[in-house]
Amino acid sequence: MKTTFSLLGGIAATLLTIAMLLTAGWVRPPIHGEQTGFRGTGQQQLISAQNLRILQAANALPEPIDKASSSGERATEAYKNVQVLTDLSTEEFNRVMIAITQWVSPDQGCAYCHNTENLADDGLYTKIVARRMLQMNRHINAAYTSHVADTGVTCYTCHRGQPVPSNIWFENPGAPHAGGMSAHNYGFGHPSKSNGATGLPVDPFKPHLLGDETIRVEGKQALPALSGASIQQTEQSFSLMIHMSEALGVNCAYCHNTRNFGGWEESKPQRVVAWHGLAMLRELNANYLDPLKPVYPSNRLGPLGDSPKANCATCHQGAPKPLLGQSMAKDFPELGGKPAP
Ligand code: HEC
Ligand code: HEC
Ligand code: HEC
Ligand code: HEC
Repeated sequence: MKTTFSLLGGIAATLLTIAMLLTAGWVRPPIHGEQTGFRGTGQQQLISAQNLRILQAANALPEPIDKASSSGERATEAYKNVQVLTDLSTEEFNRVMIAITQWVSPDQGCAYCHNTENLADDGLYTKIVARRMLQMNRHINAAYTSHVADTGVTCYTCHRGQPVPSNIWFENPGAPHAGGMSAHNYGFGHPSKSNGATGLPVDPFKPHLLGDETIRVEGKQALPALSGASIQQTEQSFSLMIHMSEALGVNCAYCHNTRNFGGWEESKPQRVVAWHGLAMLRELNANYLDPLKPVYPSNRLGPLGDSPKANCATCHQGAPKPLLGQSMAKDFPELGGKPAP
């Protein structure tokens, strides 16, 4: 009797161990911990040695490209249809063309954006989009140092050698629903990638990263009309916070002191950087990405016919700083970053 029990116990323990090893999210030790805030506040980042290696490999930089002289013949003299890179020398202009090919369409080459019979031709939609991207990239590096600092961004920050970045979003109406009273549930209760597999709203992006909805959860008074945050706004705010944490590969305490989420005085400086990031993204989506809708072919548009847009993950891709803080923009003054020292 006793042996049967210990045998069954042994089998159960073995099965449980196997189940643990196969459970998604279980990581192999050693775990590397870094204290990022005051002791006792739980402001720590934990990452396993294995995941750190994966993150580092995913954020390796592409081959550098030789510098170009800013003097000599101007691109506007050499070429016929230069509308954005009007301040560059021909040498710098050609360097940008080589770089964007490497960063955006390395497999397709120049022909991804160009009619190779006539490079001045604007017939391909990809060239029109790329021209707007050049303006957007320069704008980010010049106007949003409050977020991107001197590190800046290049096309590679988002594209990583692919024409379509890995992380983009479209308006999401939520899963189809039965008729009657439950015809529209505003995307609640559908675990998906965008809400961290919770039941929170599936689209925190449209209200917060295109629109400027209030990000608040704490009702200070009984009625939503007085406190400012309805239940729907609260759930959307939490859904956005989950996206922000996942996009950066961090937990909530990377920005907040969890004993007081709302209080800025107890938050980390990173929360202020994130706040500027929200403002930046709203402008990028509203002024650059959303208006490209008429330019795209229909197969690039979302289920509701809107154009592809960016969120925190488009640049960050699971790292607290995109490309782990390595700056490519400093070597590309052509894209509006600071010249290399
Ligand atoms: C990702 C899209 C993209 C790729 C790839 C690309 N280009 Fe361009 N190219 C552009 C855009 C956009 C312009 C217009 C820039 C402007 O208006 O300031 C342009 C303009 C040019 C022009 C000026 C033509 C004229 O007379 O107005 C030349 C030359 C050129 N590209 C060469 C190349 C070469 C060579 C390659 C491959 C090594 C290449 N491009 C790859 C987007 C691209
Ligand atoms: C903030 C992130 C970001 C940066 C920086 C960025 N892009 Fe994009 N790019 C996007 C998004 C989002 C799309 C939409 C994806 C789609 O077309 O489905 C896009 C689309 C494109 C497309 C159209 C691809 C297609 O096949 O539909 C081209 C071409 C392009 N970008 C070129 C560039 C170039 C060149 C640069 C640098 C000057 C650049 N991008 C910088 C986010 C970015
Ligand atoms: C990258 C930084 C960052 C991370 C990570 C982050 N937050 Fe936030 N959080 C912010 C910012 C910035 C705001 C304020 C936005 C605003 O006021 O426009 C905010 C606001 C909030 C609020 C609203 C507070 C109020 O005044 O009502 C709550 C609650 C909150 N976050 C919870 C969370 C939770 C829970 C997590 C983890 C799932 C999290 N946050 C992760 C930056 C962050
Ligand atoms: C256009 C690309 C881009 C987008 C989009 C973007 N970021 Fe960033 N972010 C950066 C860059 C580049 C840095 C690094 C700046 C530096 O070196 O200090 C950064 C830094 C940060 C930091 C500081 C990290 C630290 O450890 O100091 C936080 C926090 C942050 N971003 C949050 C966000 C959030 C939240 C969003 C979405 C609302 C967002 N970012 C969207 C490019 C971007």
